[in-house]
Amino acid sequence: MALRPPAPEDLPLLFRWLNDPDAIAPWDRFEVDSFDALREALREAPQDPRSLAPRFLITEVANDRPVGVVGFFNSYTALDTVDLWYAVCIPEERGKGYGRESVNLLTDYVFAHRPVERVGATSDVENPSSWKMLDHLGFRREGTMRQALFHHGAWHDVAVYGLTRTEWRTLRSPPGKRSRAPG
Ligand SMILES: CC(C)(COP(=O)(O)OP(=O)(O)OC[C@H]1O[C@@H](n2cnc3c(N)ncnc32)[C@H](O)[C@@H]1OP(=O)(O)O)[C@@H](O)C(=O)NCCC(=O)NCCS
Repeated sequence: MALRPPAPEDLPLLFRWLNDPDAIAPWDRFEVDSFDALREALREAPQDPRSLAPRFLITEVANDRPVGVVGFFNSYTALDTVDLWYAVCIPEERGKGYGRESVNLLTDYVFAHRPVERVGATSDVENPSSWKMLDHLGFRREGTMRQALFHHGAWHDVAVYGLTRTEWRTLRSPPGKRSRAPG
C-alpha cells in the first residue's frame, strides 16, 4: 500500500465515500454537507493541525487504486499529542491487512513530521477490526473513555490507544518492499 495526498480528480470519490455509511463506517463521524465544503476542508487541512479532513488516500502501489483514507489531528487542545483516524472504504477490501499496513505508514509519517512524543488513536470498544489493528501495530490500550461517542442512536465506550516515540523506534523494522510512505 501507499499513502498519497488527495488530488483534485479524487474529490468525487472522496465525496461519495464520506457520505456513504458503508464506506466511512458506523464508527466515524466526519461529516461533509456539500462538495464545496469538502474541497474547502481539504484545501485548509495542511494549515490546520486540528482538521479532521482526510490527509492521505490509501492506494494500491501497483495501480494507484484508492481503497481508503487516513487522517491525523491534534486531538486535545491542551495536550501535545496527535490522533490518527483511518478507514478502508471498500468493504470487500477490509480484513486483508490494508488497514494495518497503511496505519503503519501513517504512524511513521506523523512521527517524522510532527514534534510529538506520543501518537494516539481511539476505537469504539465494539469495533474489533480497529482496536485489534492498533494492538497489532504495538499501540497500547491506555484506558477507556466511557460513553464518549454517539452514533446509531446510542452512546458508546471508546478505547484510548497510544504509542510513544521510544516504543515506535523500538518496534520499527525496515519497511517492506511493497510499502511506500508519502514524501
Ligand atoms: C478498521 C480498519 C481500518 C482495519 O483495517 P483492515 O484492513 O480491515 O484490517 P486488517 O486486515 O489490517 O486487520 C486488522 C486486525 O483486525 C482483525 N479484524 C479484521 N476484521 C475484523 C472483524 N470484522 N472482526 C474482528 N477482527 C477483525 C484482523 O484479524 C487483524 O487482527 P490481527 O492483527 O490480530 O490479525 C477497517 O476494517 C475499516 O476501515 N473499518 C471501517 C472503518 C473503521 O472502523 N475505522 C476506524 C474508526 S476508529
